[in-house]
Amino acid sequence: MTANTTLIPLQIHGDNRGSLIAMENGINLPFDIKRVYYIYGTKEGVSRGFHAHKKLKQMLIAVSGSVTVSCEYGEQKKEYTLDRPDQGLLIEGLVWRVMSDFSPDCVLMVLADEYYNENDYIRDYQTFLKENGNG
Ligand code: TYD
Repeated sequence: MTANTTLIPLQIHGDNRGSLIAMENGINLPFDIKRVYYIYGTKEGVSRGFHAHKKLKQMLIAVSGSVTVSCEYGEQKKEYTLDRPDQGLLIEGLVWRVMSDFSPDCVLMVLADEYYNENDYIRDYQTFLKENGNG
């Protein structure tokens, strides 16, 4: 699978009551969801992630607050600020990712196309570089 990261705008169903966003398999999400998790209450100065996945596809949405997501794959290094609930960051394939600068109110929701599987993780950066073709 080709490694890639893409920012995806999400349609807001808004009216005078407020806003609603729906994510649907194969409609505005290019995979079928098997797992949802969310990261919140992150302590000041903490960074998370520091791994790549061999196959997993994930959509990251800061449903509240803000977070910086640094991604490395192929020849690319990209840094995204997720700070709005109507924007998703799609991460596919072998991407080394680090999440940092969590605001105290950040709730980072992650949708994934597979169950939690430690065998899909590459947690060693040198191993990632080798798999990425620059090790
Ligand atoms: P960890 O991989 O350290 O999170 P991050 O990549 O954000 O730094 O996961 C923290 C703990 O939660 C670890 O014990 C594994 C567990 N976990 C699950 O049980 N299910 C999941 O879907 C995820 C993402 C983690």
